[in-house]
Amino acid sequence: MKSPIVLVLMLAVAPPLYAAPFDKGDPKAGQVLHDQSCLTCHDNGMYTRQTRKLKTAGQLAARISGCNANTGAGWFPDEEQHVGAYLNQNFYHFK
Ligand code: HEC
Repeated sequence: MKSPIVLVLMLAVAPPLYAAPFDKGDPKAGQVLHDQSCLTCHDNGMYTRQTRKLKTAGQLAARISGCNANTGAGWFPDEEQHVGAYLNQNFYHFK
């Protein structure tokens, strides 16, 4: 029979039922990547302008992918997740 401590540990590491967008990304790593590749054409004001175009986390992910490809930043999918986490946490706040 399993000890209660083991059961508590198993519960503690169980994934949450609801996963927030970009929850696998690391916003700090994302900021470094973003600031290296993405500030040549627009500053961070692009993400908070009144007329900003993105309305969902999915659109944000798609835009990051598209800009990654267009600019030749060469990010891997996990790096796109980092940038998504950074942009979402600081500017977009999609749930
Ligand atoms: C070659 C110039 C250029 C570079 C470099 C660039 N962007 Fe953009 N980006 C634009 C322009 C222009 C727009 C506005 C397009 C529009 O209004 O539809 C834009 C818009 C965006 C938006 C949408 C803003 C909104 O309306 O909510 C996001 C997100 C974005 N860029 C992310 C990135 C990321 C991430 C990178 C780095 C990989 C990047 N951009 C690099 C030119 C650039």
